[in-house]
Amino acid sequence: MGKRFMLFYLATILLVNASVLQKLPNLNIDLVGTTVSGISSGAYMSGQMHVALSSFIKGSAIVAGGPVGCTRGYLIYATTECMANPQDLNIQSVDEAIDKLNKDKKIDDVSNLKGAKSYIFAGLKDTVVLPLGGVHLQDQFTKLGVQLKTVYDIPAEHAYITNNFGNVCDFKGSPYINNCNYNQAYESLNYLYGGKLKAGTKAIDSNLFEFNQQNYFSSFMTSLYSSGYVYIPTNCAGGKKKCRLHINFHGCKQSVEILGTNYITMIGINDVAEANDIVVLYPQTSKNPIFPYNPEGCWDWWGYTEWNSMLAPTGYYNFNSAGLNFLSKEGLQIKSIWQMAQDLASGNKTSQKLEQE
Ligand SMILES: *[C@@H]1O[C@H](CO)[C@@H](O)[C@H](O)[C@H]1NC(C)=O
Repeated sequence: MGKRFMLFYLATILLVNASVLQKLPNLNIDLVGTTVSGISSGAYMSGQMHVALSSFIKGSAIVAGGPVGCTRGYLIYATTECMANPQDLNIQSVDEAIDKLNKDKKIDDVSNLKGAKSYIFAGLKDTVVLPLGGVHLQDQFTKLGVQLKTVYDIPAEHAYITNNFGNVCDFKGSPYINNCNYNQAYESLNYLYGGKLKAGTKAIDSNLFEFNQQNYFSSFMTSLYSSGYVYIPTNCAGGKKKCRLHINFHGCKQSVEILGTNYITMIGINDVAEANDIVVLYPQTSKNPIFPYNPEGCWDWWGYTEWNSMLAPTGYYNFNSAGLNFLSKEGLQIKSIWQMAQDLASGNKTSQKLEQE
């Protein structure tokens, strides 16, 4: 059997049909200490969330991404300085963008980032977001006082990495999940949570829920899909136990609209989550071929959710900056996702502490 056929076969039989929640449940979660992760556009989104909400978010795992604010609101920089030509990156202009957001109080004070943690992964063979992007992020986070674990030595193409599922390590293509005999979900989360996580058990299919994401946006400009997903470990259901929150962001071409639940169920995060009482939120983008221009269902890391991105005279190659609002706490996507997190954590019992502490 060919590898491609094998993958298709696996993907088909493992499709999980999650039951639907009309409303997110009020779990017993302390938002202080939330962590985020993501690949590619989701990697950039993870960095943006971490920097925008650093008084709550204390860890990020950034797979195949680059520095926060890399595009400064210009789509042209997304495809050049932030993906294919990182050697040309104007680092000073990126630093200025973050400084401006900080001075204008559009993001939590960057001093909160001191002592926070970030795991940075760049595949040796990544031809989509070149590995130097990860090094630029490392430099940026080092200046901000973030503690880092960097992984640059795995011969991976552009993908989320597993030890049990996906294409061969240096393959480039859908579902952008590659098997490099490396458990990225466990290694990254274990670093973010202080090296004390239990090895993953098998995630439980019925603990994955679909929820109505339409409650979280009022404008099509937000470019969110009608449904999002949440994995609620058995111990966390009903707010029984104090649990932690992790938010994961898919990459372009990986949303449920495109892959069904394959990305959510196969990257391995739910296995780690089940064993360690971590609730995992999987927000989902929608794709749009015209406006806001987002044909692959990417997260907004160049400003497509801003109206001024419409001033683009030539469509794809936008030579006008959309501004920096999409990077801020008021950015349409960041605001919607943080509202989901707040709703999930609304059963926080202040009297109860995490078991591990
Ligand atoms: C949640 O509860 C904890 C105590 O377990 C408390 O320290 C924390 O401030 C609360 N978090 C929020 C966001 O209110």
